[in-house]
Amino acid sequence: MSEASRKHKWAWYGAIYAVILAVTSLHYFTGHELHYYHGIYRRLYYLPIILACFTGGVRAGMIAAIVVCLLYMPHALGLGPVMQDPGSPTEKGLEIILYLTVALITGLLVSRGERIRDRLILAIEEKERVEAELVRAAKLAAVGRLSAGLAHEIRNPLASIKGAAELLGDDFAEGHPKRRLLDTLVSEAERLNGVLTRFLSFARPAPIERKKIDMPALLGNVLAFLPQGNHFRGGSISFDDPMPLKPIEGDEGQIRQVLLNVILNARESAGPGGKVTVSMEETTDPGGVAIHVDDDGPGFAPEALENLFTPFFTTREGGTGLGLAISHRIVESHGGSLEASNLPGGGARVTMRFPAS
Ligand SMILES: Nc1ncnc2c1ncn2[C@@H]1O[C@H](COP(=O)(O)OP(=O)(O)OP(=O)(O)O)[C@@H](O)[C@H]1O
Ligand SMILES: [Mg+2]
Repeated sequence: MSEASRKHKWAWYGAIYAVILAVTSLHYFTGHELHYYHGIYRRLYYLPIILACFTGGVRAGMIAAIVVCLLYMPHALGLGPVMQDPGSPTEKGLEIILYLTVALITGLLVSRGERIRDRLILAIEEKERVEAELVRAAKLAAVGRLSAGLAHEIRNPLASIKGAAELLGDDFAEGHPKRRLLDTLVSEAERLNGVLTRFLSFARPAPIERKKIDMPALLGNVLAFLPQGNHFRGGSISFDDPMPLKPIEGDEGQIRQVLLNVILNARESAGPGGKVTVSMEETTDPGGVAIHVDDDGPGFAPEALENLFTPFFTTREGGTGLGLAISHRIVESHGGSLEASNLPGGGARVTMRFPAS
């Protein structure tokens, strides 16, 4: 409970007990002959009791009712010097029982109402989450249709370009400058075909081909074959190869893609002369492996954190905004999770968690 609402609550209790004392004084100082007024005052006690139930539930209500009974009892019985309430014993006895009963029933109803309200809030939050998920799914479906068409259109001419380059290459001896150019054409066409396949794998995820994966080894391999990037000139990537970690079970190609996407993002954010640090650890709850990729760039923009896994959300010139959406889908299909946050000292951290095999 916040400090403000705690203060608010105590203000209400103050008012409630002030009313109880005021009604008690009216009882004590109103003449015995004014029977009619005493009947009204007895009923006035219900007001603070009900208010106490609304302020602090059944417990606060019962405490208020007991305080009322203790204050009213000497007056009801005419104990010592206190003047006696002129009501009949039945009226007074019944009233005392009712104070306690009303506190109990109202308190229970208020508590039940609060439980229903809490459940309702949870249900609304869940509904909003599902709606956001649906919007994302709809976008994914749109990407699926679009990319299937695009892939078809691009793949066929690409295959022709590659075939033609291969044929032309045969006309030149190994080592001939033109042969090298044509070999580049062939390898680049193959790479493009690979990109296309990855794009399609996002639209229509490939089935997972599970095998045991040694994460540090896979990461070492990814780092060794990172494409060059001018934007990271003079930057450094450090990775402390940890002690042997539990193997995880998953699709090596897909997990390689996740690592690549996240590390390339970190490198792009860190910029020239930047620093990227990759670390790994075994986790116990749930058991598995966590991989952290930290960079010393500007960190995630607030709108990037909100739209992290939304396909096509990008703040980068030339970015497609698919990297994290693909990675998220892959990690989740492996039963893991992907989290992103900003580091307290500046920079970003992306954590991937995979369950152990
Ligand atoms: N390490 C990071 N630091 C700060 N912002 C980041 C980082 N990684 C991702 N982002 C933000 O998240 C956005 C989405 O990243 P994502 O990888 O999905 O797409 P992208 O990098 O823009 O394009 P691409 O599809 O080519 O990877 C980025 O545009 C950027 O705003
Ligand atoms: Mg990216």
